[in-house]
Amino acid sequence: MAKQIFKPAKRIEFINPYNPADSLWKIKKAKGKKQILKLDWNESPFPPSKNVINAIKEFLSKKNNINWYPETFSLELRRELSKHFGLKADNYLVTNGCDDGLDFALRAFLNPKDEVIILSPTYTNFEIYVQTLGNKIKNITYDNSLLINIQRIEKSISKKTKLVYIANPNNPTGTLINKQDINRLLKKFPHVLFLIDETYYDFSNITVIGLIKSHSNLIIARSFSKAYALAGLRVGYLISQKENIDSLLRIYNARNVNVIAQIAAIHALRDKQYLKNCLNKIKASMDFLVKELNKLKIKVIATPTNFILVKSNNPKKLVRLLDKEFLFVRDKSDMPQLKGFIRLNLGDIKMAKHILKLLRNIKKKHSTLFA
Ligand SMILES: Cc1ncc(COP(=O)(O)O)c(C=O)c1O
Repeated sequence: MAKQIFKPAKRIEFINPYNPADSLWKIKKAKGKKQILKLDWNESPFPPSKNVINAIKEFLSKKNNINWYPETFSLELRRELSKHFGLKADNYLVTNGCDDGLDFALRAFLNPKDEVIILSPTYTNFEIYVQTLGNKIKNITYDNSLLINIQRIEKSISKKTKLVYIANPNNPTGTLINKQDINRLLKKFPHVLFLIDETYYDFSNITVIGLIKSHSNLIIARSFSKAYALAGLRVGYLISQKENIDSLLRIYNARNVNVIAQIAAIHALRDKQYLKNCLNKIKASMDFLVKELNKLKIKVIATPTNFILVKSNNPKKLVRLLDKEFLFVRDKSDMPQLKGFIRLNLGDIKMAKHILKLLRNIKKKHSTLFA
């Protein structure tokens, strides 16, 4: 009998499977060979705090651990979040990474005819979540200097707009919109939901969490994947007024997030000193690299995140050459406003010196790459 082929749902027919250009398999093959730097996905190049590892080990040493479902609604972690960032535990919803939080917010609040505004270029997964639901997207592009005039956002909001997504700071442009401007949008458009993605908040130290109490149209999404070095465990959270969290809870599985991720997140939050050390190292290496690359006349853009953008005349070739040296970076040159740019995230000063050495050598051999 002929095999039955099932077509995907109409609304996702035009979405191509994501090609993540994952470097992990190359790293596994190269193990022990050279200095390897995986800086292509903005993950932390540092391990998580020792307290996190110890807490996981201790949990696993107990007789009953992963055979049971996790605590429902991640209550302990929500309490910990409230202790650290203020508000109440019921202003938080724990999710499988920020990704899951973004998806939840869309699924809980969008009706089929609602439009979503996205500031572009931005985090590509978000667009896919909207497309999956079949809602219309209106893109507003950052300008040539990778900034955005807030009036352009205001003008693009129509009666059909239900939600505006702003990654703040944005990946991959690094653009940071100030709190006053976001406050203005929240006030001016009380019927539009503003989903502010603060995945890189720990690096920028700018947050709109202070506006949650006064604005029911604000949802913040955050992550433990970057500054807290827990990308492999997939944990993040949403912050909003209780009524919005209650709406999200309608579609939330009370056992949504795995128990190890919850333990890790709690202990990562508690080790403030470790977080501070990691953030300081990243900041110092960003300052160092920007200064040194400027001296080499290589165009570089610093951002209030853990990554920088480096410009080349042939970004694809540059990525290939760096690949050969086991330095994995991301080509962003096909995105609007980012022609010529690659993106790489940073770690400590030793890593920064290694990056500099490789770029300097490449420039010597292939001078036209940066001319
Ligand atoms: C802006 C932005 N939002 C969300 C995510 C996903 O975060 P998580 O790993 O917590 O799902 C990323 C990951 O790179 C990101 O850059």
